[in-house]
Amino acid sequence: AALTQDDLKRIAAHRAVDLVESGMVLGLGTGSTAAHALDRLGDLLRRGVLRDIVGIPTSLKTAAHAAAVGIPLSDLDAHPVVDLSIDGADEVDPALNLVKGRGGSLLREKMIEGASRRFVVIVDESKLVPCLGGSGLAVPVEVVPFCWKYTLGQLERLFDNDPGFNAKLRTFSDKEGVEMPFVTDNSNYIIDLYFERGISGDLDAVSDSMLRFPGVVEHGMFLGMATSVIVAGKNGVTFMEK
Ligand code: A5P
Repeated sequence: AALTQDDLKRIAAHRAVDLVESGMVLGLGTGSTAAHALDRLGDLLRRGVLRDIVGIPTSLKTAAHAAAVGIPLSDLDAHPVVDLSIDGADEVDPALNLVKGRGGSLLREKMIEGASRRFVVIVDESKLVPCLGGSGLAVPVEVVPFCWKYTLGQLERLFDNDPGFNAKLRTFSDKEGVEMPFVTDNSNYIIDLYFERGISGDLDAVSDSMLRFPGVVEHGMFLGMATSVIVAGKNGVTFMEK
């Protein structure tokens, strides 16, 4: 039978878990691809193939999943140096820059993956893009709830020379069907940025400009952070290295 997208995610995740050794401090990613890595880690711990693993979860959801499969958990306060982080991504460009955070966990992901000696990204081939923001999907920005419309206005002005640019508060419909702001694990909001043809220009400069707004906590561009990317495709697995 043909491989589904979920099969490809699992294949990439298992290849990454092959890199894990007993005794490691591991950054545990968030999302449907990283979830396969958690299951695999739990399995190897249960069978005694791996021992003495400490997991640092990048979201409350991942913490719950990891606990359920028996991965011991800690945090960056106790383990400021992480041996290896494994996480998915929404987009990967040819220079191994990423967009992350469509699941809303970008801040903790960036803190933990930024503290990692190695950061291995696991994706199926649909995540590869020539240019960040180029898939027409959102580039997320975590903002403080206080006067978020003001911060949204600052982001709009930053990109106002991009004709197709659009910024929107991320919302969801509650049980009564009322639109509510999506709230992150850090009690913040997310503003999703949409670019017609991707983010043009110097990505580091764009990053700095966004981070200079006081209401912006973090954004979902992960520049120069990934040390390798494992890409599972219909024709096999490829490794992109820095
Ligand atoms: C979570 O906030 C994101 O950064 C995820 O890592 C990203 O959305 C990838 O998720 P999937 O593996 O589900 O595509």
